[in-house]
Amino acid sequence: MKRFLVLISVLLSSAGLTAKTTAPDIMPAPGKLEMAKGCFKMKGVSINCDPALEAATLKAVRQFADRLTLVSGKTVSVASPIGIQSAVKSGSIKGLCFVNDASIAPEGYKISVGKKATVVSASSYSGFFYAIQTLKQMLPVSIYGTTPDLKGKWRIPCCEIEDAPRFGYRGVLLDCCRHFFSVDEVKKVLDVMAIFKLNRLHWHLTEDQGWRVEIDKYPKLTEIGAFRNGTMIKRDWGSNDGIRHGGYYTKAQIRDMVAYAAERGITIIPEVDLPGHMVAALASYPEFGCAGSAPYEVLTYWGVSKQVLNVGKESTMRFLEDVCAEVAELFPGEYFNIGGDECPRDEWKTDPDCQAKIKELGLVSDDEATAEARLQNYVTARMQKFLATKGKKIIGWDEILEGELAKGATVMSWRGTKGGIKAASMGYDVIMSPNTYCYLDYAQSPDLESEPFGITTKPERALPLEKVYGYEPFTDIPADAQHHILGVQGNLWTEFIATPEHLEYMLLPRMMALSEIQWSAPENKDFARFKESLRTHELPILDLLGYNYRKLDN
Ligand code: ACM
Repeated sequence: MKRFLVLISVLLSSAGLTAKTTAPDIMPAPGKLEMAKGCFKMKGVSINCDPALEAATLKAVRQFADRLTLVSGKTVSVASPIGIQSAVKSGSIKGLCFVNDASIAPEGYKISVGKKATVVSASSYSGFFYAIQTLKQMLPVSIYGTTPDLKGKWRIPCCEIEDAPRFGYRGVLLDCCRHFFSVDEVKKVLDVMAIFKLNRLHWHLTEDQGWRVEIDKYPKLTEIGAFRNGTMIKRDWGSNDGIRHGGYYTKAQIRDMVAYAAERGITIIPEVDLPGHMVAALASYPEFGCAGSAPYEVLTYWGVSKQVLNVGKESTMRFLEDVCAEVAELFPGEYFNIGGDECPRDEWKTDPDCQAKIKELGLVSDDEATAEARLQNYVTARMQKFLATKGKKIIGWDEILEGELAKGATVMSWRGTKGGIKAASMGYDVIMSPNTYCYLDYAQSPDLESEPFGITTKPERALPLEKVYGYEPFTDIPADAQHHILGVQGNLWTEFIATPEHLEYMLLPRMMALSEIQWSAPENKDFARFKESLRTHELPILDLLGYNYRKLDN
């Protein structure tokens, strides 16, 4: 008899009728997830949308319905019935419902899964988009593909989910300069970011080794600056592989990319790195260089170049303003990254224009900063003012803190966390992307020989998955300054990353570790759960979608 009852219970359980369901693997871990008994059938489900949903939300719901129809083999219908809000309130509604709820935070959402009805509520496109990502994560992995899976268990467990991100800025930096990556590959990165609810792509578009954005007023930037005559081999600074390398994105491609990202809840933030890291621009327009610095050549090797812009010349500043105006026009987001890192000021010390500018501005060296460092402050402040006229706020690397920095700038902490701690304490907004945790070009194991050749030369600098996962962005940030931490970003520099396969290998699965730092409450993080979830659920999603990734150690 007992065995019979157990059998009944197993049968009922596999039919999803009475079983106390196990929690689905949702990554990043949601705010609140309470399991209930039973399941909701998604196969052939009727979807009801609030007529007040935005057109973009309706489109996303229809795409989800079409995918569910395709993979489950049974038509999923979408309707927008009048009176859905009151039907949801009275509990008389059936099916999968998407309803507006203005009380929910902009990127947040709620999902209430009952046996008869599942109600998804949010107040914005992003909220609904993330709710759909969560619904997909509760379904068989085949929902990510286009192959029918007629035997799939097309149902989701009854539960209550209330979710919203910890940080508003959840970024990845992609360096498309050291190596150029095609539009399709960048889109593939956006696709995987969207699954895990990242929302900012910091697109590094200008560098010593290549200029990647079309600028109408300065066509030589892409005619000359977008290509280099070969690339150094491994760490041999005297070498050159002899293979011309380059490429750039046209304005049409960029507009398409921006729209593609927006559909995935992602804002693209361009970076025009200035006034250093500009050799590709100088190779195109040598007249913006310092005295005695020419000739210029788009660099074929890595490192920090002493060849920098001559910011003492008004024509150079106008060049920067013209370029940034054209770039700002392409990217509708509120932020613009002006770089500011690793700008040696040696050339400014002897250049007559720079010295004249220093005199004119009355800049002096003191204990805090040199006159040349203050000249960079002038450049930052001028670009900040200029970009404000284009409706943009600036972000810069933590070097922009040296000397004086105008209020309203956002600091990206990369040389460890100290720049971020200092900036937040001084009242600046901060994005944490410390190289001690968030540099995704660093090796994934201290056993460097076992990893692809890369930038890491010391085992202790490696960033294995668990180390990345363990990062806590509020560490050492005073409590009253923590609200200045806008978020966290992983940086994928590409000096030693030349192929899409290698790029994906470095990004994944560490990007998922980042996603839990960026999205989940610290108390909901748990490396053992995270890793097991990767093994059984998220890595199979990557397999199905054709991403390369680093395998788990055990
Ligand atoms: C940087 O890694 N130079 C920002």
